[in-house]
Amino acid sequence: MSANMEALSVPNATRRPETEGGWSSRMAFILAAAGSAIGLGNLWKFPYIAGEYGGGAFVLVYLACVAIIGLPILVAEILLGRRGGGSPVRSFQALAVREGHSPSWRLIGWLGMGGALLILSFYSVVAGWSVAYLGYGLGGHFAADANTASTMADLFAGLIASPAALIACHSVIMGATMVIVSRGIRGGLERAVRWLVPGLFVLLIALVVYAAMSTGQFGRAARFLFRPSFATLTWEGVLVAMGHAFFTLSAGMTVMMAYGSYLKRDVSIGRASVTIAGLDTLVAVLACLAIFPIVFANGLEPGSGQGLIFVTLPIAFSQMAGGEVVAVMFFALLAVAALSSTISILEPVVEHLERRDGWTRPKATLAVGALVWALGLGCALALNVAKGVTLFGMNFFDLLDFVTANIMLPLGGLLIAIYAGRVVSRESLAEELGIGNSPAFRAWRFLLRYVTPTCVALVLINNLF
Ligand code: TRP
Repeated sequence: MSANMEALSVPNATRRPETEGGWSSRMAFILAAAGSAIGLGNLWKFPYIAGEYGGGAFVLVYLACVAIIGLPILVAEILLGRRGGGSPVRSFQALAVREGHSPSWRLIGWLGMGGALLILSFYSVVAGWSVAYLGYGLGGHFAADANTASTMADLFAGLIASPAALIACHSVIMGATMVIVSRGIRGGLERAVRWLVPGLFVLLIALVVYAAMSTGQFGRAARFLFRPSFATLTWEGVLVAMGHAFFTLSAGMTVMMAYGSYLKRDVSIGRASVTIAGLDTLVAVLACLAIFPIVFANGLEPGSGQGLIFVTLPIAFSQMAGGEVVAVMFFALLAVAALSSTISILEPVVEHLERRDGWTRPKATLAVGALVWALGLGCALALNVAKGVTLFGMNFFDLLDFVTANIMLPLGGLLIAIYAGRVVSRESLAEELGIGNSPAFRAWRFLLRYVTPTCVALVLINNLF
């Protein structure tokens, strides 16, 4: 009752006052945004798609997609968030007033926040696998010569087949995410990413050094990644690279808008975005440089799909000197990277409820977290007992993955590009970016108006039909 009374007195104010919350520094923002961007997408997905689609040429296309699709949208999101000054939905409302256009564009905010929660529900289940593997590592499952390829495949299959194990691990991830988010931007998020992100870099670099020194296959891995052979590139590979450019930068679901809304006005959005995209790309490449030498040295297949880091890599861990320790490091790295991403997906929705309904942060976190946790149960069960329950030929897990990655992300990205490129005035954009009518500004706006929407529309149409 009193919460309701409070809600009535919360003004429908638009811009969040700068004194209230917000990042404590530019560095804090970069760490948080890079933490959001760097996640399972970089360490789990990128290596296996790079392996599947043949290496070099795919990597090149991916880099181009990050530059001409992902980065312009990232800049647009942060800009819209800072100018709007609230949760994604509220930012669109505030912008509608300021720019004098229809408030209906706030639907992008709803699409984004809804899509982000759907992503989180299965993302958390996969992130849970890293928790399980961390446990296996600590429990000596990757001890030297203890395992053969088939036992590793069995280990993974066993995890996937166990509802209890999947649910327990998913709960650990959601629990940790909720604890951090409930403490707020400065008390939770900033404090978490301040050690999560640098920790991740240290672990990753240690792994790359290990892989380079112990396998003698670093050169081969580098050639696989950086020597393009266009004969291996397929149209499907190009589309996958485009889709992944969104996912990996956390762009298209208005999550970065929320982070932008906490950003102070003296920070250059362009420079910050280039740094974030650069760090994200660096991690994806480093992950490949850590993984592929080990894969090649053990005569394993780079194109072995989703099981690359959960089946293929553990086989190598169990065969190499010190592999047990490396395995623990690797899966700890994965869990840490996933956690800094899950936080970012929950945050905007919690923020929104907190402001709109006057809920306390812990209450909002509990409500949204419980919803996502419940959806995640569906995803966990869809991997085993409810495998047969399908819609459009997909189980619940695959359905959420498909709908978010192939439809909602590109659609969100397309709408954001159209909105920022064509609805918001050129003057507002220039003012917010603060780089005047420079070549960089003109190039960005050109990409956003013509190139990005065309590419994204192609992906979308292809995915739908
Ligand atoms: N970018 C993260 C990764 O690569 C995942 C992620 C975090 C995300 N926040 C997002 C994806 C928002 C889409 C939208 O793992």
